Amino acid sequence: MEARVTMKRIGVDYSELHRLDSPANRLLRDHIWGADNDIGQQSFITPRYLDDMIVRLGIGPDTHLLDVGSGTGGPAVYLASATGCRVSGIEINEVGVEVSRSLIANAGLGDRVTVVQGDAHTMPFADATFDLALSLNVMNVFEDKARVFREVLRVLKPGARWAFLSGTFEMGVEDEDARERLRRGYLIPQFYDSLRGYKEKLWAAGFRVEEAVEFVSDFWVQVRRWGDGYRTNRDAIAAEQGAENTDYHIDYFATYLALIEAGKASNHLVIARRPGGGAPETPV
Ligand SMILES: C[S@@+](CC[C@H](N)C(=O)[O-])C[C@H]1O[C@@H](n2cnc3c(N)ncnc32)[C@H](O)[C@@H]1O
Repeated sequence: MEARVTMKRIGVDYSELHRLDSPANRLLRDHIWGADNDIGQQSFITPRYLDDMIVRLGIGPDTHLLDVGSGTGGPAVYLASATGCRVSGIEINEVGVEVSRSLIANAGLGDRVTVVQGDAHTMPFADATFDLALSLNVMNVFEDKARVFREVLRVLKPGARWAFLSGTFEMGVEDEDARERLRRGYLIPQFYDSLRGYKEKLWAAGFRVEEAVEFVSDFWVQVRRWGDGYRTNRDAIAAEQGAENTDYHIDYFATYLALIEAGKASNHLVIARRPGGGAPETPV
């Protein structure tokens, strides 16, 4: 089996999937999103989620936004193009950073979007830098979420918000088999949490939790499309990325779908605020 993961790194190595234009990835991406919704994302998000966030979080030309785990930079480029905001991404994977830089250059956004290669647990940004921090489908890779939350709190300006979109899980002991099948899909453990777990850790890190919005129906569609994409193009993906990995992925998406349908997995946008800076006690 081809090793896709460098165990010394923190998080999952997405190098193969980050090569957006490899022949197998092209088939997969066309299947999942087609031309209209492929924005260079490497997750379950669609432009619809980002448009919702722009309005909900009031992202505009004066916003300097941090994107934690920015992947291949597609969402950062989308947000900057749509609103004129400035985006700083942090991404651990070098292929992700490389692909981001070419997407940024192609979009002519070099003055507003930058991506640094780094680890979200120890970010190379000064205290109180950002007006908003976002993260899209990344949280499950962090074992020490409390540490990431404290680090995000540090780099946010007082009164600024932290909004992350993440899968949330309510698995019990009876779900050990599902847990193992999800783990195999990624080759290393994922650190799933419940919505309650996220809220507890946010309060403990010093955030004030404001809102948790559940986006389950769209998420169900996305997970199903990823699974269908892998199944339909199985042989081409297996030839490029290894049969075992491909079959683990197929099983991963089927397992995820079954958990969603059993009410044990969902997708939440969690919004919290760093206190201070004259932020209102009640969200406005
Ligand atoms: C599912 S992808 C999502 C990428 C992007 N947010 C998007 O929506 O397209 C998760 C990303 O988190 C990155 N990642 C994993 N561990 C990280 C860490 N410790 N610090 C920064 N990024 C990390 C991965 O390399 C990967 O690009």
